Amino acid sequence: MSLPSTIAVDGPASSGKSTVSFAVSRRIGYLFVDTGAFYRAITLLALEQHLDLDNFAEVSALAERAQIDITPELADDGRQYTVMTDGRDITAAIHAPEVDAAVSKVSAIPGVRAALLNTQRKIAARGRVIMAGRDIGTIVLPDADLKIYIDASLEERATRRYHQRASNGESADLDAIREAIRKRDEADSQRAISPLLRAPDAVYLDTSHLTQLEAIEAMIRILHEWSREKNHEQR
Ligand code: DC
Repeated sequence: MSLPSTIAVDGPASSGKSTVSFAVSRRIGYLFVDTGAFYRAITLLALEQHLDLDNFAEVSALAERAQIDITPELADDGRQYTVMTDGRDITAAIHAPEVDAAVSKVSAIPGVRAALLNTQRKIAARGRVIMAGRDIGTIVLPDADLKIYIDASLEERATRRYHQRASNGESADLDAIREAIRKRDEADSQRAISPLLRAPDAVYLDTSHLTQLEAIEAMIRILHEWSREKNHEQR
């Protein structure tokens, strides 16, 4: 059975899209590309270099010259990929709370999005890829073979993030996490350029009441459904 070669997955922060996409990519032998990691990497570098995030030209120039490499390398820390820049492994650093707080601002800069668009399209052009983000089905890969929009309620997403932080031994406050996610949702959905949007032709998957395993199975079913329909069309 043939599977879709390019799979675009969008959805809000902590909806489970990365976890589900990563697990499915391993099962079907596809490359998983979490595009949020690119925006996070640029944000980390901008913070490290003490750039003024309101200076669009400076941050855009950084996005253009930054060499960010995302590889499928795994380690025993639960990572889904490895992010490298200038020979430095920044996979953990890009998930720091300071990056969480600033990434929406950086990802709303048109020059930053333009710099990353081509990189993302080039990776997807090789095929057999699951690419996850906010604007993959709408802007980056409008012709993706299959588009999925993964959603979950704010409460459920905050609770998941809380447990994730707590199990990593990090301090966690549910109210603060919920508020941070709500703010990021608002910023990601209301920005002028490439806002988080559900593409009209995307299959909707709500994981609020699903376990991780159930959500993975649900995505696999969506892939099989796509294949069945394709087969049907070709007959
Ligand atoms: O998926 P994530 O939480 O790691 O994404 C981090 C930020 O990057 C998110 O707040 C919005 C931005 N982003 C984006 O604007 N477009 C994408 N395709 C992916 C992420």
